[in-house]
Amino acid sequence: MSEPLDLPDLAAMDALGKRIAERMRAGDVIALSGPLGTGKTTLARAILRASGHAGEVPSPSYTLVELYEGLRVPIAHADFYRLDDPAEAEELGLDDYREGAVLIAEWPERAGGFAHEPGCLSIALSKYEDGRKAIVECGADWLGRAP
Ligand SMILES: Nc1ncnc2c1ncn2[C@@H]1O[C@H](COP(=O)(O)OP(=O)(O)O)[C@@H](O)[C@H]1O
Ligand SMILES: [Mg+2]
Repeated sequence: MSEPLDLPDLAAMDALGKRIAERMRAGDVIALSGPLGTGKTTLARAILRASGHAGEVPSPSYTLVELYEGLRVPIAHADFYRLDDPAEAEELGLDDYREGAVLIAEWPERAGGFAHEPGCLSIALSKYEDGRKAIVECGADWLGRAP
């Protein structure tokens, strides 16, 4: 994926979500960073819908992690905003949630960050005009996958 990406509206978020869903594999992390209101949960929902999840996608701000099974690949959707210390991610049982699943992480830096993992796709969202833009960085495992 080349960067920065223009995401002028919600349809663009859906299209990006579909593109990611078609390429992601168990063990990957989709790290969604950016200030409040920049579209992290919106993109997480788009990925979940494109993966076959038809129901609600509550924001995991309070539960911290929501697990979705019965999809092409299980998805753990996490929001680490409320973590005070990255070590708390371990206490949540994050490793167990990640077993055989894709992790979609909002506020990844509060869990210590994932960009060092070869399976991490980092997407930094920001407001741009009426829409959003995204800076995308791929871990090594993503480089051989379709653009
Ligand atoms: N590309 C976009 N263009 C315009 N509005 C967007 C876009 N992506 C998300 N939004 C809107 O931004 C608001 C906040 O989105 P949300 O996903 O909750 O942000 P975050 O999880 O980063 O706090 C929502 O009202 C959503 O519809
Ligand atoms: Mg959110």
